[in-house]
Amino acid sequence: MSRVRVHNFAISLDGFGSGEPQSLEAPFGHAGERLHEWRFGTSSWKEGGSTGVDDLFERRHNDGFGAEIMGSNKFGPPGWQDDSDWKGWWGPNPPFHTPTYVLTHRPRSSIEMEGGTTFHFLDASPEEALAVAREAAGDLDVRIGGGATVVRDYLAAGLVDHAHFAVTPIVLGRGSRVWDGLEGLESSYDVEQVSAPSGVTHVTLTRKA
Ligand SMILES: NC(=O)c1ccc[n+]([C@@H]2O[C@H](COP(=O)([O-])OP(=O)(O)OC[C@H]3O[C@@H](n4cnc5c(N)ncnc54)[C@H](OP(=O)(O)O)[C@@H]3O)[C@@H](O)[C@H]2O)c1
Repeated sequence: MSRVRVHNFAISLDGFGSGEPQSLEAPFGHAGERLHEWRFGTSSWKEGGSTGVDDLFERRHNDGFGAEIMGSNKFGPPGWQDDSDWKGWWGPNPPFHTPTYVLTHRPRSSIEMEGGTTFHFLDASPEEALAVAREAAGDLDVRIGGGATVVRDYLAAGLVDHAHFAVTPIVLGRGSRVWDGLEGLESSYDVEQVSAPSGVTHVTLTRKA
């Protein structure tokens, strides 16, 4: 059955999914690339890279997804809505390969990219956007792709079936944080974790039956 999943969402020890300020030059703000170094060290990214638990999660990045929902700040830097040519960070062939729904209060026409990604722009509640994405995904899963605001909103609304966080061993202190307002979240999920030699702890939350 189709599930709603977060996968490979990297956070700092203090729960931030990006630093600040976000900009064209620094998409993750003062976090830089530090939240994602664990990915780049795997054999999925480089010859001779690690083949352990980091790589197992990284390899599954796109497995089973038929649609993605992301936030406006993942799609572009502040003010991207004023640039009619902005098509996301990822070049002509973005890594989603599915219909991808961008939540924004300033929607625009859909953009068809190479490789199966079409960006659609929605000003809608989490539930409404999910209904549209589910329809597009068919039997496949819907990814809540971030950033932290959107992941938090979907968790708060009780709409996430399974979530994987890669907890990286850095303290950011500021930025966009997942956990705010989610007190007691663990009571709704089975929580498991496994540590990798990279220093990353992979935490999964699976909704209790
Ligand atoms: N750590 C990771 O693995 C990871 C993964 C993905 C992204 N990121 C990073 O996370 C950062 C972005 O995260 P973020 O928390 O700042 O923002 P975000 O979750 O990407 O986007 C939040 C914004 O989306 C729009 N939005 C959200 N819900 C909406 C709704 N229901 N209806 C209409 N619009 C809605 C609003 O923007 P407007 O009001 O402007 O329209 C809101 O301010 C970026 O730096 C990105 O690179 C990190």
